[in-house]
Amino acid sequence: MESFAHKRSAPLILLEETESTNTLLKKMAMEGAVPGTVVAARRQTSGRGRMGRSFVSPEGGLYLSMLLEPPFSPQDNLSLTPCTAVAAVRAVKRLCGIEPDIKWPNDLLLEGKKLCGILCESLFFQERQFVILGLGLNLNTEAHAFPEELGDLACSLFTQLGKSFPADEALAVLICELDEMYARWLCDRGCFLDEYRRKCISCGRDVLLIKDGASLCAFAEGIDENYAISVRYPDGRRESIYTGEVSLR
Ligand code: BTN
Repeated sequence: MESFAHKRSAPLILLEETESTNTLLKKMAMEGAVPGTVVAARRQTSGRGRMGRSFVSPEGGLYLSMLLEPPFSPQDNLSLTPCTAVAAVRAVKRLCGIEPDIKWPNDLLLEGKKLCGILCESLFFQERQFVILGLGLNLNTEAHAFPEELGDLACSLFTQLGKSFPADEALAVLICELDEMYARWLCDRGCFLDEYRRKCISCGRDVLLIKDGASLCAFAEGIDENYAISVRYPDGRRESIYTGEVSLR
């Protein structure tokens, strides 16, 4: 398995601004970029989020994408998303000593406000299967840089801790944690389960589940061995949800 892990000699491309680091890296993968390549930007003009949403990406944040070529099935690769959240929690802890919470599957929250979003996208190209792992961390973003409607929902390390952090150090720490997570995940996809369960605040409570476009009330019972969230509906039916979103009720 070790041989599938990329080498950190892969290119690191630093940009002031791009449309979306995920979109750019996807194009680069189709033009021959090697696994492990990272694209990072200080601003995105069309940052993309999960479920077709946009991801507001102003100055002050750190936006990065890493190209991976995992050897597993698309279903097995789904666990990369929650494992990336664990890597991001570890990186934030290394940077500032504080451990954010995880909202299933992969939002990082500080005091209930979103600090970091993760978008893992698959690319099937010339019989190869890539994953573009994208992460946006609100590092030094000032409160006024978030649009008004996100005022109470988003935060940055700067807004919460009142000090700024060097972006190059944050980038290096994030890349290091992502590389380590990926190398370990290749050997054992379940190895982050305990840590994920400990950090995930979505369980043991009533949630609103958004699944295939529908909103459903449910009780979140726990995280199963595939990092899926196990829910119980009011009629007693149980289900494991692999992709979707929960909001806390
Ligand atoms: C979400 O919260 O819905 C996911 C947000 C993911 C944002 C990151 S920023 C870097 C990469 N490029 C993108 O366009 N999106 C991801």
